[in-house]
Amino acid sequence: MFRVNDNFLKLSAGYLFPEIARRVQAYAGAHPNLAPRIVRCGIGDVTEPLPKVAIDAMHRATDDLASRDRFHGYPPPTGYDFVRTAIADGDFRSRGCSIDDDEIFLSDGSKPDASAILEILGNGNTVAITDPVYPVYADTNVMAGNTGAAKAGGGYEGLVYLPCTVANDFSPALPATHADIIYLCSPNNPTGAVLDRAALTRWVDWAMARGSLIAFDAAYEAFVRDESIPHSIYEIDGARECAIEFRSFSKIGGFTGVRAGYTVVPKSLSGSASDGARVALHPLWHRRWATCSNGVSWPVQCAVAALYSAEGRAQTRALTDFYLENAAILARACSALGLHVHGATNSPYVWTSCPQGLGSWETFDLLLTEAQVVITPGAGFGRCGEGFIRISAFNSRANVEEVAKRLSVLGAARVVSR
Ligand code: MLT
Repeated sequence: MFRVNDNFLKLSAGYLFPEIARRVQAYAGAHPNLAPRIVRCGIGDVTEPLPKVAIDAMHRATDDLASRDRFHGYPPPTGYDFVRTAIADGDFRSRGCSIDDDEIFLSDGSKPDASAILEILGNGNTVAITDPVYPVYADTNVMAGNTGAAKAGGGYEGLVYLPCTVANDFSPALPATHADIIYLCSPNNPTGAVLDRAALTRWVDWAMARGSLIAFDAAYEAFVRDESIPHSIYEIDGARECAIEFRSFSKIGGFTGVRAGYTVVPKSLSGSASDGARVALHPLWHRRWATCSNGVSWPVQCAVAALYSAEGRAQTRALTDFYLENAAILARACSALGLHVHGATNSPYVWTSCPQGLGSWETFDLLLTEAQVVITPGAGFGRCGEGFIRISAFNSRANVEEVAKRLSVLGAARVVSR
């Protein structure tokens, strides 16, 4: 009989966001009169229309497909040159980062890229992740066989966990033990914390000294407003030799449904083969794309390029400003209730303490049943997430203002629990 991938059997729970959706659906089914009141601030899914430049570009590109002269078939698997140039110029060279066009690999999003990258990394790497963490980094490594079994109290054997707590301002300390690969995310999902230049420099120096790889997730860089915070790890000397970077158009361009992102793999980055030979990662990643993908569709690539025009820049800035203002409204509401608020600046996520005496799933239940508001319980991101909830600012202004009012049930819960 054929064999399945046993590693999947190690996964301790379903993926976080479908699990939340299942609970919300069950509640809505049991309370049909309250179901229309439900406001979703759980998964970070955008609500606002795409920037006009992207819509216009997609319309034009669709017309191209209706014309024999302007027709486009298979795209280059790693992206059209004009798109890669726009990205390398707009996101890197304009910030003084030396990134070549052919180091940009366009894809359908950073989540698939974070998973696919494991195909070109060897078995047996020791992997370090933060706690709390975007669950994709942990789960994909479980699926790839880079961990042992699930632990009784949460987490997996074999993964190195780097606690991010109030005490360290949600900035992970360097690992005390060896790690071959470390996932860093800034601005962070879920905590909203940012890694400053000094912290990123420490990580790059650490990775360079050990021959380790940093998988840097910058999916939320467009929300950085503090000029001193790096948008890319390539703003740090040495990063070209030790880091790859994931980027996404989901939040900057509202592309969660359109699907586009990219990964930067510098040509100067190399790892070790099992015989000890040094092997560059870039050709492996290129080979992976050439074999496993037919790239991103013409209309979507045209929309991506449009985001880098002057008009596109202004429109994406307005979109991210809008969500940041939502975050500020939600953060003020939480603070007014006496909760300890983190994130929310340089980030679309509000990471706030639970009411005293309530766990994060209890807070989730309370908000769902008493206020019909969906948030994400911190425990879903790891053990150190317990005691916190994440509120997503991706919503309409009307919904955010409504949620800000309904959060008052948390104030009542806090008083009751004292
Ligand atoms: C989140 O809510 O954490 C993200 O939107 C989920 C994702 O990007 O996969």
